[in-house]
Amino acid sequence: MDRNTEKHCLPALNAHLPPGTQFLQMAGVGEQVKSLEHAHALWDSLDGLGVDRRGLIVPLGGGTITDLAGFAASTYLRGVACWSIPTSLLAMVDASIGGKTGINFQGLKNRIGTFTMPTGVSIHPGFLNTLPEREWRSGLAEHIKHMLIHADGCLDGVELLEPNGTDWTELAKSLSLSVRIKSDIVKRDTTETLGIREHLNFGHTVGHALESWALETGQDVRHGEAIAWGMQISLKMSELHADCPNLGAGSCDEIIDLLRKVVPLPSQVPSAEVLWKFMLTDKKNQSGTVHEVLLNGIGQPLSGIEIEFGALESAIAELT
Ligand SMILES: NC(=O)c1ccc[n+]([C@@H]2O[C@H](COP(=O)([O-])OP(=O)(O)OC[C@H]3O[C@@H](n4cnc5c(N)ncnc54)[C@H](O)[C@@H]3O)[C@@H](O)[C@H]2O)c1
Ligand SMILES: [Zn+2]
Repeated sequence: MDRNTEKHCLPALNAHLPPGTQFLQMAGVGEQVKSLEHAHALWDSLDGLGVDRRGLIVPLGGGTITDLAGFAASTYLRGVACWSIPTSLLAMVDASIGGKTGINFQGLKNRIGTFTMPTGVSIHPGFLNTLPEREWRSGLAEHIKHMLIHADGCLDGVELLEPNGTDWTELAKSLSLSVRIKSDIVKRDTTETLGIREHLNFGHTVGHALESWALETGQDVRHGEAIAWGMQISLKMSELHADCPNLGAGSCDEIIDLLRKVVPLPSQVPSAEVLWKFMLTDKKNQSGTVHEVLLNGIGQPLSGIEIEFGALESAIAELT
């Protein structure tokens, strides 16, 4: 856990934990948690506690904690069981589902990691009561992404969802749909080799480039904020792309408006040239080309589309 989830989430869980449970609080909070230093500290603590291969690691936190702990668990003693308890919206609908674990390295997002399915995931929406609004909105970006890339997706009422509103039924329904969509995609292409899981990267080539730039320059950008902005650029690139005739200008702009209403734009963004430099280092790219997921209409993502610098430049120009 981190200091926030220790304060806000651990008390509700405490009564359910077996005797002998040991607690580890990470020194950092937020994206800095996903570092080699934190992984090292976690391995060190597991060693110190004498955790053996029958041990169970339970990340209690947002996506940074589930990514870090999942990675540490999958590598410690060649793999110790990990049961995630996500506490942010983003971790509930996305980060804790699908078995991608990892840390950032050399200033690049998720550079080191594993594909390791958690032993289990428990989702308790009640934890969202204490989630700050900015984090809630960041999570909504990934939720909207799921609704855009899958035939079962539904955007109705997304902007009305609230973390501590009275309508738990609507929220639970939306969370379940998001989890089901992500699980369905992951089941069909667990290790991202068939081009299907790549659909989940919609908005992420640009979004990760923005995050890597933010890490390098010390800017404060949440993952979901970067992805929401990345999706807007991908949508504009789709609208201008010959392979996406089904995405009309009207629906493209409607989705962009929804994204802008729900997730605030980052206060600063780099130039197209700077973004491009980071996009060239994306894991999904081969030999100096940039690949992006585009959207040929709602529920019709297209993966592995090679894009040119000019397409990025025009999309950014159209958005600003
Ligand atoms: N593995 C995957 O498939 C996957 C998918 C999507 C995103 N991610 C990763 O997830 C990370 C982002 O996750 P995040 O947005 O959850 O960030 P986070 O873990 O930093 O959590 C956001 C903030 O909310 C606090 N918090 C969490 N739960 C809380 C609660 N219930 N009450 C009060 N405060 C709470 C945290 O302490 C933190 O300050 C990124 O690093 C991203 O790359 C991974
Ligand atoms: Zn993401």
